Amino acid sequence: MASTPHRPLGIDVGGTGIKGAPVNLEKGDFADERLRIPTPENSTPDAVAGVIEEIVDNFADQIGDEAIGITIPGVVQNGVVRTAANIDRSWLDYPIEDTLEQRLGRDVTVLNDADAAGIGEWHYGAAADLTEGLVIVTTLGTGIGSAMIHHGVLQPNTEFGHLELDGENAEKRAANSAREREDLSFKEWSKRLERYYQHLEFLLWPDLFVVGGGVSKKSGKFLPRLDIRTPIVPAQLLNAAGIVGAAREAHDRAAGKGAVRP
Ligand code: BGC
Repeated sequence: MASTPHRPLGIDVGGTGIKGAPVNLEKGDFADERLRIPTPENSTPDAVAGVIEEIVDNFADQIGDEAIGITIPGVVQNGVVRTAANIDRSWLDYPIEDTLEQRLGRDVTVLNDADAAGIGEWHYGAAADLTEGLVIVTTLGTGIGSAMIHHGVLQPNTEFGHLELDGENAEKRAANSAREREDLSFKEWSKRLERYYQHLEFLLWPDLFVVGGGVSKKSGKFLPRLDIRTPIVPAQLLNAAGIVGAAREAHDRAAGKGAVRP
């Protein structure tokens, strides 16, 4: 009997859940059912590393010696977490990649969550046809994440969610959490999104915007309202993008051709 091929594992560390699945790189989707474990209340790096270990153990047979990719909702520079806008401050300057490699005894790639989603969408989703030009993938969630890919090359850690918009941090005004917190209608929220995307296009002149995050499932309620010059489309991998992109990046890095670093 032919043995099942080993699959790289993607793990997405979020504010409420830590989710992982082995990824089929030919198709860009999950090779098995996703496992979700609630993020520990005291979400220190050590506590989160414990959950990551549990997820890795759960899929050990399927991963074999394949790579592991992990997303973090903050700037990740050479495997070190540099910002903690919506996560515990103890993550600041934490060398998460080295720590996990020692703890798990295998190669680990850690990258920003939106960068991972961008890689997923670029390889398998809404930006898959854009081999030339500039695509900006934004994720609208608790914060606003961004990934910038030019001619297939990712510029990591762009952090466009923290641009100033009408005197405020953009994600405080325009993230999906602002819509929920202020109980905005989709019409009201669209006005803020319009200002945000107009600001991005004024600075960067992209060829395509891709809009991800859980709320992109309802994109019909807000994307058609945006009067901007750049084509703007919903993400296709929805909340699988981060896991798929992280697994892909970890696999590519092991082969010496990662988008974030080789
Ligand atoms: C963080 C980004 C992250 C985004 C989405 C922002 O607050 O600064 O690094 O990608 O939230 O989680």
